[in-house]
Amino acid sequence: MAATGAPTRAGAPAPLRWDGERLHALDQTALPWEERVIELADGAAVAGALRRLAVRGAPLIGVAAGYGLAMDAAREPTLAALDRAAAVLRSARPTAANLGWAVDRVVGAARGAGAGPRLAAAARAEAEAIDAENAAAGAAQARLGADLLAELGVRRILTHCNTGALACGEPGSALGAIAALAQREAAVHVLVCETRPLLQGARLTTWELRRLGIAHDLVVDAAAAGLVRAGAVDAVVVGFDRMAANGDTANKVGTYGHALAAQAAGVPFVFVGPTSSIDPAIATGDDVEIEERDAEEVRRAGGELVAPADTPVRNPAFDVTPAALVTAVVTERGVARPVDAGTLAALLR
Ligand code: MRU
Repeated sequence: MAATGAPTRAGAPAPLRWDGERLHALDQTALPWEERVIELADGAAVAGALRRLAVRGAPLIGVAAGYGLAMDAAREPTLAALDRAAAVLRSARPTAANLGWAVDRVVGAARGAGAGPRLAAAARAEAEAIDAENAAAGAAQARLGADLLAELGVRRILTHCNTGALACGEPGSALGAIAALAQREAAVHVLVCETRPLLQGARLTTWELRRLGIAHDLVVDAAAAGLVRAGAVDAVVVGFDRMAANGDTANKVGTYGHALAAQAAGVPFVFVGPTSSIDPAIATGDDVEIEERDAEEVRRAGGELVAPADTPVRNPAFDVTPAALVTAVVTERGVARPVDAGTLAALLR
């Protein structure tokens, strides 16, 4: 069953549910305090939910965008309308590769189907195919990721941001692999970086780990490097949003620092994610567009001002980790190890 069709293994409403006409999303901005489901009726509503991070995480962003286009195609089944809807969705968040990838797939399928009901049916079928493929990819990443972590003898893991069912659909990317490892090894423990400014680690990853029954401690982001150096973890395991052809990879801001700390300490650093997050059209990480978000996200924590109200701010939402710092990349098609243009191209063939 596709990611959007089932409640999460953690026992909460599904992060996305497609009822055949509308998309129902667990509003991630309300977590962990409230499990609020919102209804998204068209592409513009999906784009709005992506922008405010009610729906977030690279793989889930792709699935939601596909359904956004399918809903617009049902309402106005012309290529001109679909192109307009695609432009709105595409601009919602620039860094996650899955957004443009899913939009291209749905628009391409619709373009091949002419106009009218056939266009609408093609758009919907493609969105549902993306959803189903994403679910299958998540299961494979979890299995292959757990295999790799077991092989490396990993029990104690540091992770960043949120890469569970909330970000990807069940079972998640990096968190899916960690959960699969925990099913084999009782001693798995996760250090969760809080992930300022929007606290996806503190709010979402701890919420998921608690429901999964996996031991964890929350740490402030600034504690991570010292803990890695002190030998508190066996590996750093994270997801990713856009990987360039050479393996340079954009992920939630703070990831690069964790990779530097891991390399300095001789600890493996592993990315887990679907091949739909790999962008072979981008040669290196220098070409990745990094989303800059609202200054208020930094000036405030939990809604409260933590700096003078007019403090100038920089708020890049992602950073780029060079391939040279990465031990392995786990995808649904296999593991790239070492990580370079050749091993990644072999995975994508
Ligand atoms: O800004 P977000 O919350 O959409 O962040 C994207 C992510 O979820 C992360 O960067 C994650 O580590 C990789 S995508 C599962």
